[in-house]
Amino acid sequence: MSVMRQGICRILGEGRRRSQCGEEKGASDVPACSMRGSCEMLDAARCVSIPPCRVRGKRKRGRTERYQHTIMPDRLIVVTGANGNVGAPLVDALAEQGISVRAAIHGAESAFTADVETVHFDFTDRQTWTPGFRDAQGLFVLRPPHLSNVETTIHPALDAAIAAGVGHVVTLSVMGAGANPFLPHRRIEKHVESQPVAWTHVRPGFYMQNLSGTHRAGICKHDEIIVPAGEGRANWVDTRDIGELAAMVLAEGAEHDKCIYEPTGPEALTYHAVAGILSDVLDRKIQYDRPGLWRYVQHMRRDTNFDLGFILFTCLLHTLVRLGRSSRVTDDVETVLGRSPRSLRDFAEDYADVWRS
Ligand SMILES: NC(=O)c1ccc[n+]([C@@H]2O[C@H](COP(=O)([O-])OP(=O)(O)OC[C@H]3O[C@@H](n4cnc5c(N)ncnc54)[C@H](OP(=O)(O)O)[C@@H]3O)[C@@H](O)[C@H]2O)c1
Repeated sequence: MSVMRQGICRILGEGRRRSQCGEEKGASDVPACSMRGSCEMLDAARCVSIPPCRVRGKRKRGRTERYQHTIMPDRLIVVTGANGNVGAPLVDALAEQGISVRAAIHGAESAFTADVETVHFDFTDRQTWTPGFRDAQGLFVLRPPHLSNVETTIHPALDAAIAAGVGHVVTLSVMGAGANPFLPHRRIEKHVESQPVAWTHVRPGFYMQNLSGTHRAGICKHDEIIVPAGEGRANWVDTRDIGELAAMVLAEGAEHDKCIYEPTGPEALTYHAVAGILSDVLDRKIQYDRPGLWRYVQHMRRDTNFDLGFILFTCLLHTLVRLGRSSRVTDDVETVLGRSPRSLRDFAEDYADVWRS
């Protein structure tokens, strides 16, 4: 068990700090926190307010924790889904930190801001795994949305990565995965946890980039967003923040072993509020139409090219939003990156041209 406690318990003493982590209550199997420098600057009262650093038995950094970054430059990180919403900013953020990165590309090559090594990679084609993982120390793994049978694709690829010497795996999952053992994301997480490897799970909230991806056509052509989310609020997060958080975790490596991060934006917003922000930024009225499930499915079948499986999945997602199950906001972006997450207005201003074309 690696424990780095410099500076943590100067004021309260180790015993108090340990009890915050639940470790004194017989939970000796729970790894100790590896926070550093946290409490030197805090007074006792604030220190007591640090929330328990575990999420369902896994440790998690707390609200007021701060630590110095210890980037390990001599590492090669492989990023799967490298041209996706999260993968692309992750590749750029790693390269910016001077970390060697290999972008594992499935389809069309993407233009990264940085000049990085690329390799063709396919979870369904074993021939691509060895060149993909060669000499790598860290791996970012996502579940491509259409791959459901993770046991025959992603699990064996992960085994190959670990056999090739990868020592730290960061999974891209989804908020709430811990409570859903049948979710493919959770099955991947559990597989990684069972392997002899350091792991970190990143479970984000609702992507702002859904507005520039899935909803782009509706906004551009009809000035409207059509989803069955009622007046429920979602914890919108910019995938650039997820990518940058994952980059920091990969750059620091085993420092984040067994941590779970749930990046969200700064606030939960209804689609009405989102449409209002887009209207302001684009200087034209964007409507939010909130149909029932049946009318939504009819609209998606008639007006888009999405397949039925995806449409039904989005029904589930938006039902969760409508029921208020996607509104929890965390400060994990600030905890890891030391800055506030981007707001939906920041995102809308940066992407405005996407909805003007
Ligand atoms: N949307 C949300 O609000 C939300 C919220 C939380 C979590 N998530 C999760 O985030 C994940 C998606 O992340 P994302 O949005 O960054 O990805 P994305 O933009 O949807 O891109 C998927 C990536 O996977 C690659 N890919 C497709 N098939 C592959 C294969 N057989 N082998 C290797 N790579 C393959 C794609 O490459 P090509 O494009 O070249 O084929 C692409 O780079 C999903 O698991 C989703 O459930 C989504």
